[in-house]
Amino acid sequence: MTHLSVNLNKIGLLRNSRGRDYPNLVDMAERTLKLGAFGITIHPRPDQRHATYQDAHDVKELLKRFPGAELNIEGFPEAQFLDVVLEVEPDQCTLVPDDPNQLTSDHGWNIARDQDALRPVIAKLKAKGIRVVLFMDPDPESMVLAKEVGADRVELYTEEYANAFGKTGFEDILDNYQNAAQAALDVGLAVNAGHDLDLNNVQTLCAPGRIMEVSIGHALTVEALDLGWDNVVKAYLAKLV
Ligand code: PXP
Repeated sequence: MTHLSVNLNKIGLLRNSRGRDYPNLVDMAERTLKLGAFGITIHPRPDQRHATYQDAHDVKELLKRFPGAELNIEGFPEAQFLDVVLEVEPDQCTLVPDDPNQLTSDHGWNIARDQDALRPVIAKLKAKGIRVVLFMDPDPESMVLAKEVGADRVELYTEEYANAFGKTGFEDILDNYQNAAQAALDVGLAVNAGHDLDLNNVQTLCAPGRIMEVSIGHALTVEALDLGWDNVVKAYLAKLV
């Protein structure tokens, strides 16, 4: 079985667009965990436009009531991010090479280039008992180096997979993802996956059994709107007779 970690950044974005704490991110995390999700992911960026550093503390506090459930904090390892992660001590930290101004993560680490910066960061996080994951493109060759710099897992960046899903050439792309996952497993890394996964495409990726955890945010939020919108419009109409 693949674990589901629900990324609540879009809940933070919706909340931040208004002056009050609605929707409440911790309430949504609690609902999610009560439904049986394995974990919560947040990706606090330096401008805190989605999830905030305070959210990291608040969700960690919530998780004390859900033994076995995990908090995964994603982000670029700059000083403030690392301070928060080391203070909060999430179960897992996914290091992502994204620029603060990026709309969303759009590439994995180039470990050959960035290894000298990554090694001490990974060591520091692991010394606190935090599992470290590196966000990676599906390149089977780079998994040896990911292991060598000290990562516990990799997270495969699945945008290319999601974009190709159901289109010509998809089988080759799927094979490449499975080969990258197997290469990671072969060197002793566990494998997570995320980005643009949705209800249509997630099963095909995970069915062969190589993916330990997926983190899903954007599509899950849109699908929640899709599946709930009609009921809510009807509920308003019923009030306004
Ligand atoms: N993994 C990483 C590293 C991400 O940055 C994101 C988006 O915040 C996700 C997974 C989840 O992607 P999506 O929101 O498309 O489900």
